Amino acid sequence: MALSVTTEDYLKIIHELTEYNGYASLAEISPILGTSRQSAYDEIGILVERNFVEKVDRGKYRLTLSGQREANKFLRKHRVAEILLWKGLGLKWSLLDDQAMGIEHGMTEEIIEKVCLKFGCQSCPHGNPIPSQDGEVELDQELNFEQLSLNEEYHVKRVIFETPPTLAFLEENRLFPDAVVKKIGEEEIEFEGQNVKIPKDILRSLTFASN
Ligand code: FE2
Ligand code: FE2
Repeated sequence: MALSVTTEDYLKIIHELTEYNGYASLAEISPILGTSRQSAYDEIGILVERNFVEKVDRGKYRLTLSGQREANKFLRKHRVAEILLWKGLGLKWSLLDDQAMGIEHGMTEEIIEKVCLKFGCQSCPHGNPIPSQDGEVELDQELNFEQLSLNEEYHVKRVIFETPPTLAFLEENRLFPDAVVKKIGEEEIEFEGQNVKIPKDILRSLTFASN
């Protein structure tokens, strides 16, 4: 059964916040989706009833296994929509997550296959893998910033929480997936011979892999 647009949006944001924070809170979900706290609460109640979402604490939620599978099916559409807007239309890298909202719900499997044939579908422009049609996804080994050794080379793997300010900062500093970086301090990296200070919340949005 096809899920409603609203359900798809909720599953995506709960997935992203959980990857970023370990859970998704009502207080964060409603401003991001531009809904009232009450309607977010009601919608999440429906998702809990459908066994897509479970409560972890007061006001804190995460996806169940079947919710994750449904989220992945939608993330396939979302991430391929980003590829289309980027490689097909040349939209700015930092605006892709936001701009994809207009078209992602309408991405049929036929469109997805054509985009993948033409542009390749390894990952979204921000490094996130494209799930299969039935919601399977493979994650490579990755490290968060805290796990990196000082003065060793790594490359940026993906942006786990794609927000407009995070993407704008990364674009301005050309810190795209595959950028080769060295950690030189708690909030500082060396990149292309320059020392770059990165705010903590943005560092938490990134994963890395050994070079
Ligand atoms: Fe995105
Ligand atoms: Fe993306």
